[in-house]
Amino acid sequence: MTHYAFNAAQHRPYLEFMQQLLDFIPVDYPLAGMLTNSGAEAAENALKVARIVTGRTGVIAFDGGFHGRTLATVNLNGKVAPYKQGLGNLSSSVYHIPYPSQDNGITTQDAKKALARLFQVEVDIENISAIIFEPVLGEGCFQMMNPDFAQYLQQFCQEHGILMIVDEI
Ligand SMILES: Cc1ncc(COP(=O)(O)O)c(C=O)c1O
Repeated sequence: MTHYAFNAAQHRPYLEFMQQLLDFIPVDYPLAGMLTNSGAEAAENALKVARIVTGRTGVIAFDGGFHGRTLATVNLNGKVAPYKQGLGNLSSSVYHIPYPSQDNGITTQDAKKALARLFQVEVDIENISAIIFEPVLGEGCFQMMNPDFAQYLQQFCQEHGILMIVDEI
């Protein structure tokens, strides 16, 4: 198969495949897509989009979350061992909160309180560009986020001009 980098030469198979992927996503607003080399690259690009769109740099992620092994994505991971070990100080504007799930005993209320605490104690909400989460934690023991918390997050993000990044692989 001959394959061109899409940024160098646009070609129909890429466009057709992307259309199929977009048709698969059940939302009623227009979508755009981009194929990347890895999950980490996808997550990093989502962070870049969030920075550019909002003009802010802070990110909220979840305890137990996993988003990759690159320098920007290890910051997002809610797990020190083995991802952050030996790396020294990571330049970070990432804040973690507990992941509410029926599988781990952390309630939606607990997570809402932790989110509120962040904005009282750690960071100005005006600095937050994005909230990133996995609908189902992979590395974090295959726990599913409480659907009512995911809905709350979507509303919260809309109210505060924050982008919601849903990382699933
Ligand atoms: C949710 C999620 N994001 C990102 C990644 C990183 O993907 P990659 O190893 O392709 O960089 C993974 C890998 O398992 C993942 O599960």
